[in-house]
Amino acid sequence: MLSGKLLGSDMKKIGVLISGRGSNLQAIIDACESGDIPAKIAVVISNDPSAFGLERAQKHKIPAVVINHKDYKDKNTYELEIVKVLGQHNIDLVCLAGYMRIVGQVLLSNYLHKILNVHPALLPSFPGLHGQKQAFLHGVKVSGVTVHFVDEGCDTGPIIMQQAVPVLPNDTEETLSARILEQEHKIYPQAIKLFCEGNLIIEGRQVKING
Ligand code: GRF
Repeated sequence: MLSGKLLGSDMKKIGVLISGRGSNLQAIIDACESGDIPAKIAVVISNDPSAFGLERAQKHKIPAVVINHKDYKDKNTYELEIVKVLGQHNIDLVCLAGYMRIVGQVLLSNYLHKILNVHPALLPSFPGLHGQKQAFLHGVKVSGVTVHFVDEGCDTGPIIMQQAVPVLPNDTEETLSARILEQEHKIYPQAIKLFCEGNLIIEGRQVKING
């Protein structure tokens, strides 16, 4: 019996949705290439044609596709196109990585419990845009990172993993954001690895980690 790395058709296929610089995409690419995540990124989709993450994908010879929401008459039609492209690549898991659109019913129903997101705050505090800034302005002493399954709400899905990040006395929004980002790059690949190994079990709002 073969042991070690998963090969060929056993390998899970990931589709990553981005809108911008793609540093989390890069962390996932690196973890797949090093074998830490037993999966392959089969496609990167951006709704923004100018997203730097597209260049990161190309550099690693990953198919990079632009599906600009502005070119579609409504969200359903836009998401149908995304679902079509994900289907063409036999995607098992969709990872949102700085994807700046709320996921709608079409994408959700096609990939139920198969969409993950990373959020730069300790949910359920500070959901939505600029989690780091919201936490900083609120004056919290601890913020952090959350990786969660995506549901129909905005950053409301079952939580897989969280990492606390202290807010230091001399922090600015920028220094705090940088410290949070460092942790995003660590725990997002860890959560994706758990998913790809079949070690996440959803029970209502709870996500149990096997082992
Ligand atoms: C990250 O802070 C992520 O948590 C949030 O958007 C930012 C995207 O950064 N959802 P990048 O594009 O991955 O560099």
